[in-house]
Amino acid sequence: MGKKVTVVGAGFYGSTTAQRLAEYDVFDTVVITDIIEGKPAGIALDLNQSRAVEGFETTVVGVTTGPNGEGYEGIEGSDVVVITAGLPRKPGMSRMDLLETNAKIVRQVAENVAKYAPNAVVIVVSNPLDEMTALAQIATQFPRNRVLGQAGMLDTARFTNFVAEALQVPVKSVKTLTLGSHGDTMVPVPSQSSVNGKPLREVMPAEQIEDLVVRTRNGGAEVVALLKTGSAYYAPSAAAARMAKAVAEDSGEVMPVCAWVDGEYGISGVYLGVEAEIGAQGVKRVVETDLDADELAALREAAEAVRAKQADVASM
Ligand SMILES: NC(=O)c1ccc[n+]([C@@H]2O[C@H](COP(=O)([O-])OP(=O)(O)OC[C@H]3O[C@@H](n4cnc5c(N)ncnc54)[C@H](O)[C@@H]3O)[C@@H](O)[C@H]2O)c1
Repeated sequence: MGKKVTVVGAGFYGSTTAQRLAEYDVFDTVVITDIIEGKPAGIALDLNQSRAVEGFETTVVGVTTGPNGEGYEGIEGSDVVVITAGLPRKPGMSRMDLLETNAKIVRQVAENVAKYAPNAVVIVVSNPLDEMTALAQIATQFPRNRVLGQAGMLDTARFTNFVAEALQVPVKSVKTLTLGSHGDTMVPVPSQSSVNGKPLREVMPAEQIEDLVVRTRNGGAEVVALLKTGSAYYAPSAAAARMAKAVAEDSGEVMPVCAWVDGEYGISGVYLGVEAEIGAQGVKRVVETDLDADELAALREAAEAVRAKQADVASM
């Protein structure tokens, strides 16, 4: 049977994700939903009209959903659901400022996903990311491997881009990694970063690496400050769409994602940015990578920071 993916939220993140997923041409159906009457249907119509030009057969379906779950029957049979519903940041806001507002939205969405797409893998992108991922698992009651969040792929892509620009080398010659939270306790990992196979630390001075680490940690805020009206969506949607594709294709690709950590790195019982093998059931396994002592300490610190907040969302 053909694959079906749903994107909840037809704002900037959701609409660009739906476009990328449709253009991959690996799904039968891409469903996009929103609470704004007509918006998802308009986006679906527009995307379907691009099929003849872009050359894909995937059909996009737009569904308006209501406060009591009206419309959610449209997501039935989804293999993957990407949750983008929720407010984005405005200049000066931290992701944590969105906690209470987005918790209400994500809980309502997740409960309907559990009801109408009980076998789906859920990829959360709404912010604050680590907390909303934990909340989506609580609200769906899905096995923890079937609920994951997108942050690490984006943060890693930002770090990689900054390194490639700074050294003026092709982006494909650069490999970087970020772990930890999608926030102040993000953990860029220079020890696992390289340029043409050479350790980053051998080709870039320590102060410059530190500058790029700081810029990566503030990567989202830098875009928000320029856009003024919302947050980034091109790079974020690229990341979430690749994760959904890896699930649909059961690819086993190793990606930095927000996943349930159960003993890895000596950390347990928390959703945290780590590398994981992604397949049809979501997270196949968390992949532990070698970290130096500082990086490991920072990852453990990140785990404790998000653990406290994740405990709070249970009652939201
Ligand atoms: N994880 C990441 O790396 C990352 C990166 C960028 C943005 N984000 C987050 O993604 C979210 C969406 O960002 P955006 O730029 O698309 O914002 P946006 O304002 O453009 O779109 C959000 C959409 O969600 C819809 N919505 C609200 N409640 C809903 C509900 N109950 N059901 C369905 N749809 C609902 C809104 O009507 C709106 O169209 C934000 O929380 C933002 O912070 C995360």
